[in-house]
Amino acid sequence: MDHEDLSFDEHDELLNPRPEETDFDRIVDTALSRRGFLGGVMTFGLGTFLVGTTALTREAQAGDRFGFAQVAANTDDTITVPEGFEWEPVVQWGDPLWSGVDGFDDATRGTAATQARAFGDNNDGMSIFTRNGRTVMAINNEYTNRKIIWGNRPDGKPENGDDIEKGMMAHGVSVFEVARDDKGAWRVVLDSELNRRITPRTEMDLTGPAAGHDLLKTAADPSGTKTLGTWNNCGNGETPWGTYLTCEENFNGYFSAADEAHEVSAELKRYGVSSKDWGYGWAKVDARFDVSKNPNEPNRAGYVVEIDPFDPTSTPKKRTALGRFKHENAAVVIAANGKAVVYLGDDERGEFLYRFVSHGTYAATGDNSDLLESGDLFVAKFHDDMRGEWLALTPETTGMSDAEIRIHTRQAASKVGATTMDRPEWVAVNPTKAEAYVALTNNKNRGKKPNKGGDDTPANGPNPRVGNNYGQIARWMPDNEDHSAPGFAWNLFALAGNPEVHDDAYAGSENINAGNMFNSPDGMAFDETGLLWIQTDGKYSNEGDFAGMGNNQMLCGDTVTGEIRRFMVGPKECEVTGICWSPDRRTMFVGIQHPGEKGNSHFPRGGTSVPRSGVFAIRRTDGGLIG
Ligand code: FEO
Ligand code: CA
Ligand code: CA
Repeated sequence: MDHEDLSFDEHDELLNPRPEETDFDRIVDTALSRRGFLGGVMTFGLGTFLVGTTALTREAQAGDRFGFAQVAANTDDTITVPEGFEWEPVVQWGDPLWSGVDGFDDATRGTAATQARAFGDNNDGMSIFTRNGRTVMAINNEYTNRKIIWGNRPDGKPENGDDIEKGMMAHGVSVFEVARDDKGAWRVVLDSELNRRITPRTEMDLTGPAAGHDLLKTAADPSGTKTLGTWNNCGNGETPWGTYLTCEENFNGYFSAADEAHEVSAELKRYGVSSKDWGYGWAKVDARFDVSKNPNEPNRAGYVVEIDPFDPTSTPKKRTALGRFKHENAAVVIAANGKAVVYLGDDERGEFLYRFVSHGTYAATGDNSDLLESGDLFVAKFHDDMRGEWLALTPETTGMSDAEIRIHTRQAASKVGATTMDRPEWVAVNPTKAEAYVALTNNKNRGKKPNKGGDDTPANGPNPRVGNNYGQIARWMPDNEDHSAPGFAWNLFALAGNPEVHDDAYAGSENINAGNMFNSPDGMAFDETGLLWIQTDGKYSNEGDFAGMGNNQMLCGDTVTGEIRRFMVGPKECEVTGICWSPDRRTMFVGIQHPGEKGNSHFPRGGTSVPRSGVFAIRRTDGGLIG
């Protein structure tokens, strides 16, 4: 089996097979789920989960807030934007952040030394910060595609320790100053004292309720409070007090054991940690990643990390108060009562949606540096009557200590009976209204297989389709317009689907049509005007169930009318992920991750060049506001 072609979640499934089901079990489960969906949800009314999009779409036709004409789906090896817009590259994998570092070399694709001083690979979540007239971008570098970063080696396999180190240095976070050049283009400010590469070797503090717990102690760190590095940083967040949040997602895939027969603990298995090398080879160069020698090391990853983007000497802080799971992003909002609320998704089939509420209160002009140090952690329970509640994860509700809840958060959430979700990706909070949205990207196991904790919730309200390969976007409105309230109302903003291929629930909701259809919503963010930007990481075969959808893309949703319009199409075999705006809102920065992951792209430089992930600036040709 060629693991290179597997996504993280598929990899996990392969290495952590589910318990055997009998055929009878499977048939009964499937039949019940199908009946549950068709006879239950459909009769109950899938329409009731979807709020008024039909009527409102008509209203939208009279005039809209988008300000652009829809781009058609395509499979071109470029970025396509609407007429009246233009795009250009800002930074790509391997671009140096300091002078004196060799630029990207197509033949060698760099070395560990150059990579450690250059923009990392597979950029994902990103934020922009301004202070005293200076602008800094903080951007996650999630992972590497082995056939790209080691594409100069036979079979895309590392040939030596430096190859493995290069791969490691391509992970983490890139922080750098940007400025506009004399033509108005955004460029990296080489050698700025604000530039920083954060890698899997950068020293970090473990903070919060789990800090110092026995499960976090290792031979190298008997205190359980100091750890090295961050990796597989997926989505992001930013705080009103000016810090960057980077979210550790598939951290498990970097651990292995010299002896593949080594049995990892049940607790680690829940997180997908295994003895088998996924191909990164880190344990070969650093025993920290050998789980047989350092069984607690995986407990020191899977957190949200807070970084001061304006102080390159600061020590990043892993915020255990926000729980440990495969974090997607961290959507921060100050609740009506002044508490810092962070919404958090755990991106794996059948895992959960979480909420953190700080103990402290946000002070607009005060010190908020420890607001994420302590707070209450909740997990979402959705009911079919369009209501939901946040279940507290406490020693009383879980039988676990505060520290254990923060380390084995998945297990805690299973104990309280949270709703298993169809892979929660980004959460986005509407700045113009008390509501939040979550992209539930897809879940082929829904109604067919339990999650890793054995939880087999069938198709349900926000996850209404068995074998869901299209995904949906759910939203919730907190009671009393207070994001710290215990209860909420919810509905679905969109069910992705293909109305050209299906005429049942897999056709999608009313606001999906042949012109705007897409699959697998992932990245998601609101602009200041309350428009919802939706990025996809789905199937780009353009065939079968996905015919007519083309490459991965970015769409814009009007959450008032329900209308969704395609704004951009990415190059071949990419995922579109990461979005932020320049301070003047005249440039939108968008991330293109892993173009050519299957070998069929030369984006962005064309010819026979190596495809490279990067950040691209999109502007109106008339210089107007964008979002
Ligand atoms: Fe890194 Fe869930 O996407
Ligand atoms: Ca994602
Ligand atoms: Ca993804």
